Amino acid sequence: MRLFLDTADINEIKKAKAWGVLSGVTTNPSIIARQKKDFFSLATEICETVYPMPVSLEAVDREPEAMADQARKLSEISRNVVVKLPANPAGMEALTLIRGESVKTNLTLVFSPTQALLATMAGADFISPFIGRLEDRGYDGLGMVRELMEALDRHESKTEVIAASIRDPHQIVEIAKAGVHIATVPFVILEKMLLNTMTDMDLDKFLKDWEEVPGREYMFREEIRKAAGA
Ligand code: E4P
Repeated sequence: MRLFLDTADINEIKKAKAWGVLSGVTTNPSIIARQKKDFFSLATEICETVYPMPVSLEAVDREPEAMADQARKLSEISRNVVVKLPANPAGMEALTLIRGESVKTNLTLVFSPTQALLATMAGADFISPFIGRLEDRGYDGLGMVRELMEALDRHESKTEVIAASIRDPHQIVEIAKAGVHIATVPFVILEKMLLNTMTDMDLDKFLKDWEEVPGREYMFREEIRKAAGA
């Protein structure tokens, strides 16, 4: 499974990249609005920071032609742009309008296996089922993703599934077990995936014990080791 970051915060993106776990970025209009920055400059900076990894940017209209036009314009920002379209009739029509053009698509706001199946049939590059928002409303978000993976796995398809709207680290383990291709996570969840007080406590003990090791002062100082003929 690959990991995308669900953010438009450049510092978060750089940190995840430095940890060696970043395979892409997803955004939505709410995430972009939080940054209070000029959209074109921000989108360009994100795309450059992670190039050639994919960056999802969302079309913002309800009409198919307008969304198709926005998709073309968003794609001009950078070659790694993936355009998010809603998994509804207008989004499907927009997807069909740009088919055959060099525009990558991510059908978003997927809340059911039937939406996932249709988006896949229409040739979306990615689909984004929203787990947390389903669970917020009292439904089984993880169950929905397991079911859609079971249905999609039976058939050949180029579409990759991005599990989205993740609320806690445990959901990521469940998603991985279900064979989902990608999870997109907010930075706070990524941090929690590494958080473990036992790791901190035991590391403290190791570092304390290291203080008792003879020759420790020289081990990592090459010039001193060389001078000593080691
Ligand atoms: C995915 O691409 C969406 O941007 C995102 O996961 C939505 O998550 P939320 O429900 O936490 O807003």
